[in-house]
Amino acid sequence: MRQSGNPRTFRVKSFGCQMNVYDGERMGELLTTRGMAPAPEGEEAELVVLNTCHIRERAAEKVYSDIGRLVKAGGATPPMIAIAGCVAQAEGEEIMARAPAVGVVVGPQAYHRLPELVARAASGKRATDTDMPANAKFDVLPERRRGGPTAFLTVQEGCDKFCTYCVVPYTRGAENSRPFSALIAEAMRLVEGGAREITLLGQNVNAWTGEDTAGRAIGLDGLARELAKLPELQRIRYMTSHPNDVTEGLIAAHGEVDKLMPFLHLPVQSGSDRVLKAMNRSHTADSYLRLLERFRADRPDIAVSGDFIVGFPGETDAEFEETLRLVDAVRYAQAFSFKYSPRPGTPAASLPGQIAREVMDERLQRLQAALNRDQLAFNQASVGRRCAVLVERKGKLPGQWLGKSPWLQSVLFEGDAAVGDLADVELASAGPNSLQARLLEPVAA
Ligand code: 5AD
Ligand code: SF4
Repeated sequence: MRQSGNPRTFRVKSFGCQMNVYDGERMGELLTTRGMAPAPEGEEAELVVLNTCHIRERAAEKVYSDIGRLVKAGGATPPMIAIAGCVAQAEGEEIMARAPAVGVVVGPQAYHRLPELVARAASGKRATDTDMPANAKFDVLPERRRGGPTAFLTVQEGCDKFCTYCVVPYTRGAENSRPFSALIAEAMRLVEGGAREITLLGQNVNAWTGEDTAGRAIGLDGLARELAKLPELQRIRYMTSHPNDVTEGLIAAHGEVDKLMPFLHLPVQSGSDRVLKAMNRSHTADSYLRLLERFRADRPDIAVSGDFIVGFPGETDAEFEETLRLVDAVRYAQAFSFKYSPRPGTPAASLPGQIAREVMDERLQRLQAALNRDQLAFNQASVGRRCAVLVERKGKLPGQWLGKSPWLQSVLFEGDAAVGDLADVELASAGPNSLQARLLEPVAA
Protein backbone atom coordinates (compact mmCIF):
# COMPACT_ATOMS: atom_id res chain seq x y z
CA MET A 1 0.00 0.00 0.00
CA ARG A 2 1.19 3.51 -0.86
CA GLN A 3 2.34 5.42 2.21
CA SER A 4 3.74 8.82 1.45
CA GLY A 5 1.53 11.39 3.10
CA ASN A 6 -1.93 12.55 2.21
CA PRO A 7 -2.63 12.32 -1.51
CA ARG A 8 -2.99 15.66 -3.28
CA THR A 9 -4.77 14.53 -6.43
CA PHE A 10 -7.56 12.02 -6.98
CA ARG A 11 -9.59 10.28 -9.63
CA VAL A 12 -12.96 8.59 -9.04
CA LYS A 13 -13.93 5.83 -11.48
CA SER A 14 -17.59 4.90 -11.21
CA PHE A 15 -19.11 1.71 -12.58
CA GLY A 16 -22.73 0.57 -12.75
CA CYS A 17 -25.89 2.55 -12.20
CA GLN A 18 -26.66 6.28 -12.14
CA MET A 19 -26.67 6.26 -8.36
CA ASN A 20 -23.03 5.23 -8.46
CA VAL A 21 -22.37 8.13 -10.82
CA TYR A 22 -24.07 10.44 -8.31
CA ASP A 23 -22.10 8.95 -5.40
CA GLY A 24 -18.89 9.29 -7.38
CA GLU A 25 -19.57 12.97 -8.03
CA ARG A 26 -20.27 13.60 -4.38
CA MET A 27 -17.08 11.80 -3.31
CA GLY A 28 -15.18 14.03 -5.72
CA GLU A 29 -16.82 17.16 -4.30
CA LEU A 30 -16.01 16.01 -0.78
CA LEU A 31 -12.34 15.36 -1.55
CA THR A 32 -12.13 18.74 -3.24
CA THR A 33 -13.42 20.56 -0.17
CA ARG A 34 -10.73 18.74 1.82
CA GLY A 35 -7.93 20.22 -0.25
CA MET A 36 -7.45 17.53 -2.89
CA ALA A 37 -7.74 18.29 -6.58
CA PRO A 38 -8.95 16.12 -9.45
CA ALA A 39 -5.90 14.76 -11.31
CA PRO A 40 -5.41 16.62 -14.58
CA GLU A 41 -6.45 14.67 -17.71
CA GLY A 42 -3.74 12.21 -18.70
CA GLU A 43 -1.87 12.42 -15.39
CA GLU A 44 -1.68 9.76 -12.71
CA ALA A 45 -3.73 10.49 -9.59
CA GLU A 46 -2.25 9.98 -6.12
CA LEU A 47 -5.59 8.56 -4.93
CA VAL A 48 -7.78 6.38 -7.16
CA VAL A 49 -11.29 5.57 -5.97
CA LEU A 50 -12.84 2.57 -7.71
CA ASN A 51 -16.57 3.07 -7.17
CA THR A 52 -17.73 -0.46 -7.91
CA CYS A 53 -20.97 -2.19 -8.92
CA HIS A 54 -21.96 -5.66 -7.77
CA ILE A 55 -25.19 -6.21 -9.63
CA ARG A 56 -24.02 -8.66 -12.28
CA GLU A 57 -21.14 -10.81 -13.51
CA ARG A 58 -17.68 -11.15 -12.14
CA ALA A 59 -17.70 -7.81 -10.36
CA ALA A 60 -15.12 -8.73 -7.75
CA GLU A 61 -12.66 -10.21 -10.28
CA LYS A 62 -12.86 -7.00 -12.25
CA VAL A 63 -11.95 -5.04 -9.14
CA TYR A 64 -8.89 -7.22 -8.51
CA SER A 65 -7.71 -6.83 -12.08
CA ASP A 66 -8.20 -3.04 -11.92
CA ILE A 67 -6.16 -2.98 -8.70
CA GLY A 68 -3.41 -5.01 -10.39
CA ARG A 69 -3.36 -2.63 -13.34
CA LEU A 70 -3.13 0.45 -11.10
CA VAL A 71 -0.26 -1.04 -9.09
CA LYS A 72 1.63 -1.97 -12.26
CA ALA A 73 1.09 1.40 -13.94
CA GLY A 74 2.19 3.25 -10.81
CA GLY A 75 5.62 1.51 -10.74
CA ALA A 76 7.66 2.81 -7.81
CA THR A 77 4.91 5.27 -6.79
CA PRO A 78 1.61 3.44 -6.98
CA PRO A 79 -1.49 5.48 -6.12
CA MET A 80 -3.43 5.00 -2.92
CA ILE A 81 -6.38 2.78 -3.88
CA ALA A 82 -9.81 3.15 -2.29
CA ILE A 83 -12.56 0.65 -3.10
CA ALA A 84 -16.03 2.16 -2.79
CA GLY A 85 -19.51 1.11 -3.95
CA CYS A 86 -21.38 -2.15 -3.75
CA VAL A 87 -18.46 -4.57 -4.14
CA ALA A 88 -16.80 -2.80 -1.20
CA GLN A 89 -19.98 -3.29 0.82
CA ALA A 90 -20.39 -6.94 -0.12
CA GLU A 91 -16.77 -8.10 -0.15
CA GLY A 92 -14.80 -5.47 1.73
CA GLU A 93 -13.13 -7.84 4.18
CA GLU A 94 -12.06 -10.20 1.46
CA ILE A 95 -10.66 -7.35 -0.62
CA MET A 96 -8.59 -6.17 2.33
CA ALA A 97 -7.29 -9.71 2.85
CA ARG A 98 -6.52 -10.39 -0.80
CA ALA A 99 -5.29 -7.02 -2.06
CA PRO A 100 -2.57 -5.46 0.10
CA ALA A 101 -2.38 -2.53 -2.35
CA VAL A 102 -5.81 -1.36 -1.21
CA GLY A 103 -5.65 1.32 1.48
CA VAL A 104 -9.34 2.09 1.96
CA VAL A 105 -12.61 0.17 1.70
CA VAL A 106 -15.73 2.27 2.02
CA GLY A 107 -19.38 1.28 1.51
CA PRO A 108 -22.12 3.28 -0.24
CA GLN A 109 -23.60 4.54 3.04
CA ALA A 110 -20.28 5.54 4.59
CA TYR A 111 -18.42 7.49 1.91
CA HIS A 112 -18.84 10.79 3.73
CA ARG A 113 -15.98 9.46 5.86
CA LEU A 114 -13.69 8.96 2.87
CA PRO A 115 -11.30 11.85 3.73
CA GLU A 116 -10.71 10.51 7.26
CA LEU A 117 -10.18 7.00 5.92
CA VAL A 118 -7.74 8.30 3.32
CA ALA A 119 -5.84 10.23 6.00
CA ARG A 120 -5.66 7.12 8.14
CA ALA A 121 -4.38 5.05 5.23
CA ALA A 122 -1.82 7.75 4.42
CA SER A 123 -0.44 7.33 7.93
CA GLY A 124 0.02 3.63 7.30
CA LYS A 125 -3.18 2.17 8.79
CA ARG A 126 -5.47 0.56 6.25
CA ALA A 127 -9.06 1.67 6.84
CA THR A 128 -12.49 0.10 6.29
CA ASP A 129 -15.96 1.54 6.84
CA THR A 130 -18.95 -0.45 5.64
CA ASP A 131 -21.44 0.75 8.25
CA MET A 132 -24.90 1.42 6.92
CA PRO A 133 -26.37 4.36 8.82
CA ALA A 134 -29.35 5.49 6.73
CA ASN A 135 -29.02 9.02 5.38
CA ALA A 136 -26.02 9.92 7.58
CA LYS A 137 -23.83 10.83 4.65
CA PHE A 138 -26.27 13.40 3.30
CA ASP A 139 -26.09 15.41 6.51
CA VAL A 140 -22.36 15.94 6.26
CA LEU A 141 -21.56 16.01 2.55
CA PRO A 142 -20.65 19.47 1.27
CA GLU A 143 -23.24 21.52 -0.62
CA ARG A 144 -23.39 20.76 -4.28
CA ARG A 145 -21.92 23.20 -6.75
CA ARG A 146 -21.81 21.20 -9.89
CA GLY A 147 -22.38 22.85 -13.25
CA GLY A 148 -23.94 21.33 -16.36
CA PRO A 149 -27.48 21.22 -17.71
CA THR A 150 -28.41 17.77 -16.39
CA ALA A 151 -27.96 16.48 -12.86
CA PHE A 152 -28.77 13.47 -10.74
CA LEU A 153 -30.33 13.78 -7.31
CA THR A 154 -30.62 10.74 -5.04
CA VAL A 155 -33.98 10.94 -3.26
CA GLN A 156 -34.32 7.38 -2.05
CA GLU A 157 -31.91 4.56 -1.45
CA GLY A 158 -32.13 0.91 -0.70
CA CYS A 159 -34.64 -1.78 -1.35
CA ASP A 160 -37.04 -3.87 0.73
CA LYS A 161 -38.37 -5.93 -2.16
CA PHE A 162 -35.84 -8.77 -2.06
CA CYS A 163 -36.13 -10.00 -5.60
CA THR A 164 -34.45 -13.38 -5.32
CA TYR A 165 -31.70 -12.61 -7.88
CA CYS A 166 -30.71 -9.21 -6.57
CA VAL A 167 -27.87 -8.02 -4.30
CA VAL A 168 -29.19 -4.50 -3.87
CA PRO A 169 -31.06 -5.05 -0.59
CA TYR A 170 -27.78 -6.33 0.88
CA THR A 171 -25.42 -3.72 -0.55
CA ARG A 172 -27.59 -0.60 -0.28
CA GLY A 173 -29.65 -1.57 2.73
CA ALA A 174 -33.30 -0.95 3.56
CA GLU A 175 -35.52 1.54 1.73
CA ASN A 176 -34.93 5.01 2.99
CA SER A 177 -36.25 8.36 1.76
CA ARG A 178 -34.28 11.58 2.10
CA PRO A 179 -36.29 14.40 3.69
CA PHE A 180 -38.22 16.78 1.46
CA SER A 181 -36.48 19.94 2.67
CA ALA A 182 -33.02 18.49 2.00
CA LEU A 183 -34.07 17.55 -1.53
CA ILE A 184 -35.54 20.94 -2.34
CA ALA A 185 -32.37 22.59 -1.01
CA GLU A 186 -30.12 20.32 -3.06
CA ALA A 187 -32.26 20.84 -6.17
CA MET A 188 -32.01 24.62 -5.72
CA ARG A 189 -28.24 24.39 -5.52
CA LEU A 190 -28.16 22.26 -8.67
CA VAL A 191 -30.36 24.72 -10.53
CA GLU A 192 -28.19 27.64 -9.37
CA GLY A 193 -25.23 25.68 -10.74
CA GLY A 194 -26.88 25.51 -14.16
CA ALA A 195 -29.00 22.34 -14.04
CA ARG A 196 -32.07 22.53 -16.28
CA GLU A 197 -32.99 18.88 -15.85
CA ILE A 198 -32.88 16.84 -12.67
CA THR A 199 -33.22 13.08 -12.62
CA LEU A 200 -34.48 11.87 -9.26
CA LEU A 201 -32.70 8.65 -8.38
CA GLY A 202 -33.63 5.75 -6.20
CA GLN A 203 -33.37 1.97 -6.29
CA ASN A 204 -37.15 2.16 -5.88
CA VAL A 205 -37.55 5.84 -6.55
CA ASN A 206 -41.33 5.71 -6.55
CA ALA A 207 -41.28 4.35 -2.99
CA TRP A 208 -40.09 7.82 -1.91
CA THR A 209 -42.29 9.36 0.79
CA GLY A 210 -41.95 12.53 2.77
CA GLU A 211 -43.70 15.52 4.23
CA ASP A 212 -44.03 18.83 2.48
CA THR A 213 -43.47 22.15 4.27
CA ALA A 214 -47.06 22.10 5.53
CA GLY A 215 -46.49 18.69 7.08
CA ARG A 216 -48.64 16.83 4.55
CA ALA A 217 -47.55 13.32 3.57
CA ILE A 218 -46.50 13.26 -0.06
CA GLY A 219 -45.11 10.76 -2.54
CA LEU A 220 -42.82 11.09 -5.52
CA ASP A 221 -45.54 12.87 -7.51
CA GLY A 222 -45.83 15.50 -4.78
CA LEU A 223 -42.06 15.97 -4.81
CA ALA A 224 -42.14 16.37 -8.60
CA ARG A 225 -44.93 18.92 -8.35
CA GLU A 226 -42.93 20.95 -5.83
CA LEU A 227 -39.74 20.78 -7.86
CA ALA A 228 -41.69 21.91 -10.92
CA LYS A 229 -42.21 25.23 -9.14
CA LEU A 230 -38.48 26.06 -9.44
CA PRO A 231 -38.61 28.47 -12.38
CA GLU A 232 -35.26 27.64 -14.01
CA LEU A 233 -35.77 23.92 -13.72
CA GLN A 234 -37.26 22.76 -17.02
CA ARG A 235 -37.34 19.00 -16.82
CA ILE A 236 -37.85 16.36 -14.17
CA ARG A 237 -37.16 12.67 -14.64
CA TYR A 238 -36.98 9.76 -12.22
CA MET A 239 -35.64 6.25 -12.11
CA THR A 240 -35.87 3.35 -11.30
CA SER A 241 -39.48 2.54 -10.45
CA HIS A 242 -41.00 -0.65 -9.11
CA PRO A 243 -44.44 -1.67 -10.45
CA ASN A 244 -45.76 -2.28 -6.94
CA ASP A 245 -45.00 1.26 -5.76
CA VAL A 246 -46.79 3.02 -8.63
CA THR A 247 -49.53 5.30 -7.26
CA GLU A 248 -52.55 6.96 -8.88
CA GLY A 249 -50.89 10.26 -8.07
CA LEU A 250 -47.76 9.41 -10.04
CA ILE A 251 -49.77 8.35 -13.07
CA ALA A 252 -51.88 11.52 -12.85
CA ALA A 253 -48.78 13.71 -12.52
CA HIS A 254 -47.65 12.55 -15.94
CA GLY A 255 -50.79 14.07 -17.39
CA GLU A 256 -50.64 17.25 -15.34
CA VAL A 257 -47.06 18.33 -14.67
CA ASP A 258 -45.55 19.66 -17.90
CA LYS A 259 -42.02 19.51 -16.55
CA LEU A 260 -42.34 15.82 -15.73
CA MET A 261 -40.96 14.19 -18.87
CA PRO A 262 -42.98 11.56 -20.76
CA PHE A 263 -40.61 8.74 -19.91
CA LEU A 264 -41.05 5.77 -17.60
CA HIS A 265 -38.38 3.26 -16.67
CA LEU A 266 -40.38 0.38 -15.24
CA PRO A 267 -38.50 -2.93 -15.13
CA VAL A 268 -40.52 -6.10 -15.59
CA GLN A 269 -37.68 -8.69 -15.75
CA SER A 270 -39.78 -11.49 -17.29
CA GLY A 271 -43.08 -12.07 -19.08
CA SER A 272 -43.72 -15.39 -17.34
CA ASP A 273 -45.83 -15.40 -14.19
CA ARG A 274 -44.09 -18.51 -12.86
CA VAL A 275 -40.68 -16.90 -13.29
CA LEU A 276 -41.92 -13.60 -11.81
CA LYS A 277 -43.13 -15.50 -8.78
CA ALA A 278 -39.80 -17.31 -8.41
CA MET A 279 -38.12 -13.91 -8.67
CA ASN A 280 -40.39 -12.63 -5.87
CA ARG A 281 -41.46 -9.72 -8.06
CA SER A 282 -45.02 -9.68 -6.65
CA HIS A 283 -46.58 -8.54 -9.91
CA THR A 284 -47.75 -10.51 -12.92
CA ALA A 285 -47.21 -9.89 -16.62
CA ASP A 286 -50.83 -8.87 -16.87
CA SER A 287 -50.82 -6.47 -13.90
CA TYR A 288 -47.71 -4.85 -15.40
CA LEU A 289 -49.42 -4.39 -18.77
CA ARG A 290 -52.49 -2.90 -17.09
CA LEU A 291 -50.29 -0.46 -15.22
CA LEU A 292 -48.76 0.71 -18.48
CA GLU A 293 -52.22 1.15 -19.97
CA ARG A 294 -53.04 3.52 -17.13
CA PHE A 295 -49.89 5.60 -17.72
CA ARG A 296 -50.68 5.68 -21.42
CA ALA A 297 -54.26 6.77 -20.78
CA ASP A 298 -52.99 9.88 -18.96
CA ARG A 299 -49.94 10.49 -21.13
CA PRO A 300 -50.40 8.75 -24.50
CA ASP A 301 -46.93 9.58 -25.82
CA ILE A 302 -45.07 8.25 -22.75
CA ALA A 303 -41.91 6.35 -23.71
CA VAL A 304 -41.59 3.11 -21.79
CA SER A 305 -38.28 1.55 -20.84
CA GLY A 306 -37.63 -1.67 -18.96
CA ASP A 307 -35.12 -4.18 -17.63
CA PHE A 308 -35.09 -7.89 -18.42
CA ILE A 309 -33.27 -10.93 -17.14
CA VAL A 310 -33.01 -14.00 -19.37
CA GLY A 311 -32.08 -17.42 -18.07
CA PHE A 312 -33.34 -17.10 -14.52
CA PRO A 313 -32.95 -20.58 -12.92
CA GLY A 314 -35.59 -22.93 -14.28
CA GLU A 315 -36.72 -20.63 -17.11
CA THR A 316 -38.07 -22.87 -19.89
CA ASP A 317 -38.20 -22.09 -23.61
CA ALA A 318 -41.95 -21.55 -23.32
CA GLU A 319 -41.47 -19.13 -20.41
CA PHE A 320 -38.89 -17.19 -22.38
CA GLU A 321 -41.38 -16.99 -25.28
CA GLU A 322 -43.77 -15.32 -22.84
CA THR A 323 -41.18 -12.59 -22.32
CA LEU A 324 -41.02 -12.05 -26.08
CA ARG A 325 -44.81 -11.82 -26.18
CA LEU A 326 -44.80 -9.22 -23.43
CA VAL A 327 -42.21 -7.21 -25.36
CA ASP A 328 -44.45 -7.34 -28.43
CA ALA A 329 -47.36 -6.09 -26.36
CA VAL A 330 -45.47 -3.20 -24.70
CA ARG A 331 -43.46 -1.79 -27.63
CA TYR A 332 -40.59 -0.44 -25.53
CA ALA A 333 -38.88 2.80 -26.54
CA GLN A 334 -35.68 1.40 -25.05
CA ALA A 335 -34.71 -1.35 -22.62
CA PHE A 336 -31.85 -3.07 -20.87
CA SER A 337 -31.53 -6.84 -20.95
CA PHE A 338 -29.14 -9.08 -19.10
CA LYS A 339 -28.18 -12.71 -18.71
CA TYR A 340 -28.98 -13.97 -15.25
CA SER A 341 -25.91 -13.88 -13.04
CA PRO A 342 -25.93 -15.80 -9.75
CA ARG A 343 -25.06 -13.31 -7.02
CA PRO A 344 -23.40 -14.65 -3.87
CA GLY A 345 -25.81 -14.75 -0.94
CA THR A 346 -29.00 -14.30 -2.95
CA PRO A 347 -31.72 -17.00 -2.83
CA ALA A 348 -31.78 -17.59 -6.59
CA ALA A 349 -28.08 -18.43 -6.67
CA SER A 350 -28.80 -21.77 -5.00
CA LEU A 351 -31.94 -22.64 -6.98
CA PRO A 352 -31.88 -25.80 -9.08
CA GLY A 353 -32.10 -25.49 -12.86
CA GLN A 354 -29.32 -22.98 -13.52
CA ILE A 355 -29.41 -22.32 -17.26
CA ALA A 356 -26.51 -23.14 -19.60
CA ARG A 357 -24.57 -20.18 -20.93
CA GLU A 358 -25.31 -21.03 -24.60
CA VAL A 359 -29.03 -21.08 -23.89
CA MET A 360 -28.79 -17.69 -22.17
CA ASP A 361 -26.74 -16.31 -25.07
CA GLU A 362 -29.33 -17.41 -27.57
CA ARG A 363 -32.24 -16.03 -25.54
CA LEU A 364 -30.49 -12.73 -24.98
CA GLN A 365 -29.83 -12.38 -28.69
CA ARG A 366 -33.46 -13.01 -29.56
CA LEU A 367 -34.71 -10.64 -26.88
CA GLN A 368 -32.31 -7.89 -27.90
CA ALA A 369 -33.29 -8.27 -31.55
CA ALA A 370 -36.92 -7.68 -30.56
CA LEU A 371 -36.03 -4.74 -28.30
CA ASN A 372 -33.80 -3.15 -30.98
CA ARG A 373 -36.59 -3.53 -33.51
CA ASP A 374 -38.99 -1.70 -31.18
CA GLN A 375 -36.49 1.01 -30.29
CA LEU A 376 -35.95 1.78 -33.98
CA ALA A 377 -39.71 1.72 -34.57
CA PHE A 378 -40.26 4.13 -31.68
CA ASN A 379 -37.60 6.50 -33.05
CA GLN A 380 -39.03 6.27 -36.57
CA ALA A 381 -42.51 7.02 -35.29
CA SER A 382 -41.10 10.21 -33.72
CA VAL A 383 -40.00 11.60 -37.09
CA GLY A 384 -42.05 14.70 -37.89
CA ARG A 385 -42.65 15.51 -34.22
CA ARG A 386 -41.75 18.97 -33.00
CA CYS A 387 -40.23 19.06 -29.56
CA ALA A 388 -37.70 20.74 -27.32
CA VAL A 389 -34.20 19.31 -27.09
CA LEU A 390 -32.14 20.05 -24.00
CA VAL A 391 -28.66 20.67 -25.38
CA GLU A 392 -26.05 18.70 -23.42
CA ARG A 393 -22.90 19.12 -25.50
CA LYS A 394 -21.34 19.76 -28.88
CA GLY A 395 -21.65 17.01 -31.47
CA LYS A 396 -18.70 15.56 -33.38
CA LEU A 397 -19.24 17.67 -36.50
CA PRO A 398 -18.63 21.42 -36.59
CA GLY A 399 -21.75 23.40 -35.65
CA GLN A 400 -23.51 20.27 -34.41
CA TRP A 401 -25.23 19.91 -31.03
CA LEU A 402 -26.30 16.87 -29.07
CA GLY A 403 -29.18 16.80 -26.63
CA LYS A 404 -32.16 14.81 -25.43
CA SER A 405 -35.76 14.83 -26.53
CA PRO A 406 -38.51 14.67 -23.90
CA TRP A 407 -38.59 10.90 -24.60
CA LEU A 408 -34.89 10.58 -23.68
CA GLN A 409 -33.80 10.05 -27.28
CA SER A 410 -30.40 11.40 -28.31
CA VAL A 411 -30.96 14.13 -30.88
CA LEU A 412 -28.38 15.79 -33.14
CA PHE A 413 -28.96 19.09 -34.91
CA GLU A 414 -27.02 21.97 -36.38
CA GLY A 415 -27.42 25.70 -35.84
CA ASP A 416 -27.19 28.50 -33.38
CA ALA A 417 -27.48 27.04 -29.87
CA ALA A 418 -25.53 26.56 -26.65
CA VAL A 419 -25.23 23.95 -23.91
CA GLY A 420 -28.21 24.25 -21.56
CA ASP A 421 -30.57 25.62 -24.23
CA LEU A 422 -33.96 24.12 -24.82
CA ALA A 423 -33.94 24.15 -28.59
CA ASP A 424 -37.16 23.79 -30.58
CA VAL A 425 -36.63 21.25 -33.32
CA GLU A 426 -38.46 19.05 -35.75
CA LEU A 427 -37.26 15.46 -35.68
CA ALA A 428 -36.21 14.70 -39.25
CA SER A 429 -34.76 11.18 -39.41
CA ALA A 430 -34.19 8.29 -37.07
CA GLY A 431 -31.61 5.60 -36.45
CA PRO A 432 -31.63 2.93 -33.73
CA ASN A 433 -29.72 5.07 -31.22
CA SER A 434 -30.27 8.69 -32.23
CA LEU A 435 -32.28 11.08 -34.35
CA GLN A 436 -31.36 13.98 -36.59
CA ALA A 437 -33.38 17.15 -36.24
CA ARG A 438 -33.89 20.55 -37.84
CA LEU A 439 -33.66 23.62 -35.62
CA LEU A 440 -36.95 25.51 -35.97
CA GLU A 441 -35.96 28.92 -34.76
CA PRO A 442 -33.14 30.55 -32.85
CA VAL A 443 -33.20 29.66 -29.18
CA ALA A 444 -34.72 32.25 -26.88
CA ALA A 445 -32.17 33.03 -24.17
N1 5AD B 1 -28.45 -11.06 -12.89
C1 5AD B 1 -28.76 -10.39 -14.03
N2 5AD B 1 -29.35 -9.19 -14.02
C2 5AD B 1 -29.62 -8.63 -12.83
N3 5AD B 1 -30.20 -7.46 -12.50
C3 5AD B 1 -30.25 -7.38 -11.16
N4 5AD B 1 -29.71 -8.46 -10.61
C4 5AD B 1 -29.32 -9.27 -11.62
C5 5AD B 1 -28.72 -10.54 -11.68
N5 5AD B 1 -28.41 -11.22 -10.58
C6 5AD B 1 -30.72 -6.52 -13.50
C7 5AD B 1 -32.23 -6.33 -13.35
C8 5AD B 1 -32.31 -4.98 -12.69
C9 5AD B 1 -31.10 -4.28 -13.29
C10 5AD B 1 -30.64 -3.07 -12.55
O1 5AD B 1 -30.10 -5.26 -13.29
O2 5AD B 1 -32.80 -6.32 -14.63
O3 5AD B 1 -33.52 -4.30 -12.99
FE1 SF4 C 1 -33.25 -5.52 -7.07
FE2 SF4 C 1 -35.82 -5.96 -6.99
FE3 SF4 C 1 -34.79 -4.16 -5.43
FE4 SF4 C 1 -34.90 -3.70 -8.02
S1 SF4 C 1 -36.63 -3.96 -6.66
S2 SF4 C 1 -33.19 -3.36 -6.74
S3 SF4 C 1 -34.56 -5.70 -8.84
S4 SF4 C 1 -34.42 -6.31 -5.32
